[in-house]
Amino acid sequence: MNALHQIWEQLIEERLKRFQEERWRPKLHIAPPAGWLNDPNGLCQYRGVYHAFYQFCPFSAEGGLKFWGHCTSRDLLHWTFEGVPLMPDQPEDCHGAYSGSALVENEKMYLYYTGNVKETGEHDFIHTGRRACTMLAVSKDGKSLETKEVLMNHEDYPSDLTRHVRDPKVWKKKDTYYMVQGARTMSDRGVVLLFSSGDKRHWRFLGRFETEEDFGYMWECPDLYELDGQTVLSISPQGVKADGLKYANLYQSVTCFLEGDFCMGARVKEFRELDGGFDFYAPQTFLSDDGRRIQIAWMGLPDVQEFYTNPTVEDGWQHMMTIPRELSVKNGVLCQNPVRELACWWNRSRSFEGDFEGETESCCEFELHTEGGSLEVLLAGGLKLRYHAEEKIFWMEFTDLVLGAGRTARGREVQELKSLRILIDVSGVEVFLNGGEDVFTTRFYPEENAYTIQIKAPDCRGTYYFHSL
Ligand code: FRU
Repeated sequence: MNALHQIWEQLIEERLKRFQEERWRPKLHIAPPAGWLNDPNGLCQYRGVYHAFYQFCPFSAEGGLKFWGHCTSRDLLHWTFEGVPLMPDQPEDCHGAYSGSALVENEKMYLYYTGNVKETGEHDFIHTGRRACTMLAVSKDGKSLETKEVLMNHEDYPSDLTRHVRDPKVWKKKDTYYMVQGARTMSDRGVVLLFSSGDKRHWRFLGRFETEEDFGYMWECPDLYELDGQTVLSISPQGVKADGLKYANLYQSVTCFLEGDFCMGARVKEFRELDGGFDFYAPQTFLSDDGRRIQIAWMGLPDVQEFYTNPTVEDGWQHMMTIPRELSVKNGVLCQNPVRELACWWNRSRSFEGDFEGETESCCEFELHTEGGSLEVLLAGGLKLRYHAEEKIFWMEFTDLVLGAGRTARGREVQELKSLRILIDVSGVEVFLNGGEDVFTTRFYPEENAYTIQIKAPDCRGTYYFHSL
């Protein structure tokens, strides 16, 4: 055991003792035991067990040097922290083991990631001074690594790119392996690079996905997958300007359906935001053994510390993931819904009609069906969800700014409201409209015993689900 491991294990031991006292720790979402979490990495199902890695700063809740944290689950809801298998301990990843993905093959996990290297001297680290190495770590159990190797370096990427190239997502189709990476060009355009390989180690540049119109200066964390007859390209762009209600967050996550074969010059069509709330970024997907396309995203955003002061920092940790979401395409729209395992988490339910008011558990779900009319839901006395049939905009609005720790209001056009699922997990709220066609995600921080709900919706039929010991 090296010194880093030792320090880490002591920290965790201390931390685990305090778990029960922590007010805002979620019950069924992935959160770091201590320190900072951002993007999901290396999502996969391996020998029947779900593995989720994530961008992790073990020593500070406010970020810093990036490692990969690791947790496992058998049902996508009960997660066990497994340690820190991937450390920035090589010359090619010494300033961060950045985001990446997992490919499972031959009883091994192939973990592709970006080795971030910052050179000494005066640099802007965009045009000079940075190397983004494409790395491969091989593991048999996700807990320890057998090998780490460098697959590509700056010279292997197209010459019109800046030093910002990262976040390899790898998958296999027929006998070929494919990889997408996000990048920023010298003319400040975000692009996705596509590579192919016959052996998982030697990669050939095939082409790029880009837009004709300006759509941000950098595209992070790309993903590409086939779903219900569509090929979906998912990116997290930076630098897209707000446009009415759209793109209201500092950075976004969007998807589009590609036109044509992805490896034969497919074109990018119109992008749509994956989430209408405050806290959603860097989503990644994987295919489960039973054929579901499951997505997990970071329930947070980079560079927003100026706007939000998350009170969990005082408890020594910050950020969590979204609930794993099953993806599908319905009526030409990419839909996201909590994984079906969630239904088994609840062991109690209560049905009601019309208005409803009362205290709730800090971890619970509400399912509401309306006849397309107006509706208002107030959570913890200060987070309002509202829809008025004439206005046709669904709003998520903090009337209590302390509850939102700086978050304000977000809205999105919704033609008709038929159903609403509200998942509350202590300090996270996810709202799924109309079978997951629109989703709003946010963190919130209610005082102790302040978990309440008021529903004003005369024509609503609802069910309250919770777990009781
Ligand atoms: C997205 C991101 C990635 C990068 C990682 C570093 O949040 O900036 O592009 O790999 O975070 O933590």
